[in-house]
Amino acid sequence: MTSSAGSALVLPEHFLMGAATSAHQTEGNNVSSDWWALENQEDTFVAEPSGDAADSFHRWPEDMDLLCGLGFNAYRFSIEWARIEPERGRVSRAAVAHYRAMVRGAIERGLTPVVTLHHFTSPRWFTERGGWAAPDSAELFAAYARTATEILRAGVRYVATINEPNMVALMYGIRRYAAEHGWGAVTSRDETGAAAGGPASVEPAADITEALVRAHRAATTVLRSADLGLRVGWTVANQVYQAEPGARDVAVAYARPREDVFLEAAREDDWIGVQAYTRHRIGPDGPLPVPEGAETTLTGWEFYPEALGEAVRHTVRVTGPGVPVIVTENGIATGDDERRIAYTERALASLAGAMGDGADVRGYFHWSAVDNYEWGTYRPTFGLAAVDPRTFARTPRESARWLGALARAGRIPQAPAQARAGAPTAR
Ligand code: BGC
Repeated sequence: MTSSAGSALVLPEHFLMGAATSAHQTEGNNVSSDWWALENQEDTFVAEPSGDAADSFHRWPEDMDLLCGLGFNAYRFSIEWARIEPERGRVSRAAVAHYRAMVRGAIERGLTPVVTLHHFTSPRWFTERGGWAAPDSAELFAAYARTATEILRAGVRYVATINEPNMVALMYGIRRYAAEHGWGAVTSRDETGAAAGGPASVEPAADITEALVRAHRAATTVLRSADLGLRVGWTVANQVYQAEPGARDVAVAYARPREDVFLEAAREDDWIGVQAYTRHRIGPDGPLPVPEGAETTLTGWEFYPEALGEAVRHTVRVTGPGVPVIVTENGIATGDDERRIAYTERALASLAGAMGDGADVRGYFHWSAVDNYEWGTYRPTFGLAAVDPRTFARTPRESARWLGALARAGRIPQAPAQARAGAPTAR
């Protein structure tokens, strides 16, 4: 149960407080993956390849030392299918041992590992044979999940099958649109900032949505039957759709294929991962651009920290109150660490509000532990710690110490401090 102390919410016992990363974005040289192939093909639309990333494949002990030194008790990271099964049916024993060592390393440091099996990247062989569109994609994923139990057996309780399946299905929708109309239609924007084939206009591919739900269910069955006491869920990219006056029905219809079907699919799960960064306003004619004059972040998203509390409330409404929530991602890409603290403080206060109203939230993971590869570019810096791209030295920012101190104290703010609640500074 939660209780209030001054302007802070005392977190329930065993609340997980940490930061998150994904393998491809931090490890470096994920050469057997489809994303590596995409980044390095001649005519790629990807601006910058991932290369060495943060070299976390070798430096994961440093990442974990950093997090536990700051005061966190949990770490969300992903294991890489392309390393574990670089060719179909060929399991790399070395990769399995590597990730087992990571799980043990987390536990030794007092960090509860939350492990994602699939975070956007697939083995190149999987994608080349049709990816999620192939008729046996769910079986192939379930077979990988079976192999992954050898890693999870090292002491994992919380496992996420697929990260942001709604974004995965959307990417298929966009790629198919591009195949028909060219990438120009995807990238060139009209005066509202929308593109005909861009994320706001294109729907997630319905067959891929179905395939992902099947894969999630098949993997869940495998993981549960391993008898390891695993708690299985998946994590959804919450879009926080807000209906403008007169646009309720439009917003509901817009949200359904993009988010709600993925939340509904989690009703029988052990937990649901909420990932929230900003909001999206929907008018009678569809999505609206970021309001004029609003502060935006390095990803171009509106600075809107209250998205987190709203995402949790919406999620609970759709899944029902019986599915515990873990905030598996929340954060901001900014070059101004003061704004990171201001954002996170307000996001946590909105989370405290949702918890105060009864949402069963079991953890909060900030995205991200370290600056990393933001799917095509290193420019947006989400990290609690900066990473030097040459030496790979990690330098924790003030926000890291600030959030770590909250984790240590087991409290989150209920209302942002006065000094930070004011109008955003110009950047
Ligand atoms: C993804 C991360 C990504 C983050 C910020 C989420 O959509 O899971 O991989 O870096 O948001 O864009």
